[in-house]
Amino acid sequence: MQPSGKLRLGINIDHVATLRNARGSAWPDPLRAALLAEAAGADGITAHLREDRRHIRDADMAALKAGIGIPLNFECAATDEMQAIILTIRPHAVCLVPERREERTTEGGLDVAGDEARLAAFIAPLRDAGCRVSMFIGHDARQIEASARIGAAVVELHTGHYSDLHAEGRMAEAEAELAALRKAAAFAASLGLEVHAGHGLTYDNVAPIAAMPQVMELNIGHFLIGEAVFIGLGPAIEDMRLRMDQARGL
Ligand code: PXP
Repeated sequence: MQPSGKLRLGINIDHVATLRNARGSAWPDPLRAALLAEAAGADGITAHLREDRRHIRDADMAALKAGIGIPLNFECAATDEMQAIILTIRPHAVCLVPERREERTTEGGLDVAGDEARLAAFIAPLRDAGCRVSMFIGHDARQIEASARIGAAVVELHTGHYSDLHAEGRMAEAEAELAALRKAAAFAASLGLEVHAGHGLTYDNVAPIAAMPQVMELNIGHFLIGEAVFIGLGPAIEDMRLRMDQARGL
């Protein structure tokens, strides 16, 4: 199967808020970053409202929803508090992620299979409100099957482990991880799930993920916000887009 069509690029702007919060000031403003990303051709904005509000805050989510002209992907843990906020803000999409306070970033995928009944009940009102619900999972077939069973529209495959192996130069293991991700993408698509991918993606490691034909969207944050310090957010996004298109044969 050849890569089919253009990939969507969602820009995660969490770490603009990290920088702002480091000084307790009002800048840099995540909404301004989102608008710049939109102008540079981003297809969506992703933001993660964590339980501890370490970067994005409630007011940021409201400002993003009101201010941007592209879809907002609201990332969060499946808690009652987050469900209530989602139903107020009504983002285009919701991506459910596991969350532990002590982690530096989202370290593993969600255990959908182990929490199936609760997650099915959790997402039902979100689907009724018109949100496209995504499960952030590893490449385990059980998690993919459970995501389909509970009625998720999308699975986002966690590329963090692949990215770490690639960065450490452990290429044989990175290849094995890629093979598992490819198999998972094909399996998820065969069940009717839309496939997204993200976490840890950079200029150097994005191509094999972008080339997976079932993958429709990548969500990328930390690397691009870092790169923006050197070359600006717009050029960083344009560069990433070019690499994605090249990997796709476009
Ligand atoms: N997708 C999901 C579900 C995430 O949790 C994150 C990190 O917040 C990303 C994508 C983006 O990862 P990164 O910031 O490493 O590009």
